[in-house]
Amino acid sequence: MKLYDWKNGIDKNELNDIVNSLNNEGLIVFPTETVYGIGTDALNEHAVKKIYEAKGRPSDNPLIVHVSDMNMLLKCVKNISDIEQKLIDNFMPGPFTLILEKSEIIPYAVTANLNTVAIRMPSNEIANKIIKSFGKPIAAPSANISGKPSGTRIDDIKEELQNKVDFFIDGGNTDIGLESTVVKVIKNIPTILRPGAITPEDIERIAGCVNIDKHVMNEVLSNEIVESPGMKHKHYSPKTKCILIDIKDDSRRIQTINKYLDEDVCVIGKSKDKTKIKTDKFIDMGDNLAEISKNIFTLLRKADSLNCNLIIIESVEPEGIGLAIMNRLIRTCGYNVIR
Ligand code: TXA
Ligand code: MG
Repeated sequence: MKLYDWKNGIDKNELNDIVNSLNNEGLIVFPTETVYGIGTDALNEHAVKKIYEAKGRPSDNPLIVHVSDMNMLLKCVKNISDIEQKLIDNFMPGPFTLILEKSEIIPYAVTANLNTVAIRMPSNEIANKIIKSFGKPIAAPSANISGKPSGTRIDDIKEELQNKVDFFIDGGNTDIGLESTVVKVIKNIPTILRPGAITPEDIERIAGCVNIDKHVMNEVLSNEIVESPGMKHKHYSPKTKCILIDIKDDSRRIQTINKYLDEDVCVIGKSKDKTKIKTDKFIDMGDNLAEISKNIFTLLRKADSLNCNLIIIESVEPEGIGLAIMNRLIRTCGYNVIR
């Protein structure tokens, strides 16, 4: 495994190495504006299977195909409707993934046998440059072992992935910190399957309507069919048990949290609650949503490393990107929420 530091710019020779590696079924960890991805040649079935193996990812959970431009996108899909085109025009490149009908060049290994493919055009300069230089789409899930919090900086994921990939490309901390918004147009209505930095309000403004799939905030029951296989699987979980405290009233929230503090407990909470929560194991998540989204996966890993019996996490308002934060935190806590 090699680590390339591109925090201060892309190195041309190293870029050649990366492209060579991708041409030889290599796996690379690379930054995007959302989270780091583990990427490989999306058109090579054998390379794609190596990603599932590296992550320990269930084989029924499809990967996102990353493209650098519209030409490349058009080769991967067919039958784009007017509303889908509108979404593409407004949100790509950016933290946005659209589920479209796949073309023949996309192997079923990428889509977990579905006839649809998830397409994303990252705006991150490094991600874009790699895809463009490679000249083909790159299949990439988030860079983490399946079930663990996603990686938003190299230091968080170096250890768990170092024997599993060929290159790490360090582009610094990712800007957004949560994975892209995943949307599928169902009966002409853009439906959010996974919330992200492109919010329901953003989509409604462009499309005139938007639906939020019920499994964005609710657990999938064993007999239910889901629009997105990822909804069924365990996600974003530290090894320590976590509980989400979703209580708006300040004094009741603080009281509820303080009741837990006799045990060996760590708290990930808002800055404004810091002095009121009586523990020396308080991890400050900040107060504004952009800051929280940027840091939350690193903070979850940090809390886990304290080896406490329990991690208590404060909720945020599910508004704007807050919906995406809550979608992740509810899963982190295995739907264990105190209201
Ligand atoms: O921001 C992101 O989207 C990051 C960066 C690396 O681009 N990638 C990412 O990939 O989060 P991953 O594999 O962790 O999440 C992909 C999600 C999963 O929930 C998967 O089930 C869903 O997209 N998905 C992929 N293909 C799909 C399809 N054809 N239909 C429905 N859902 C799909
Ligand atoms: Mg993931």
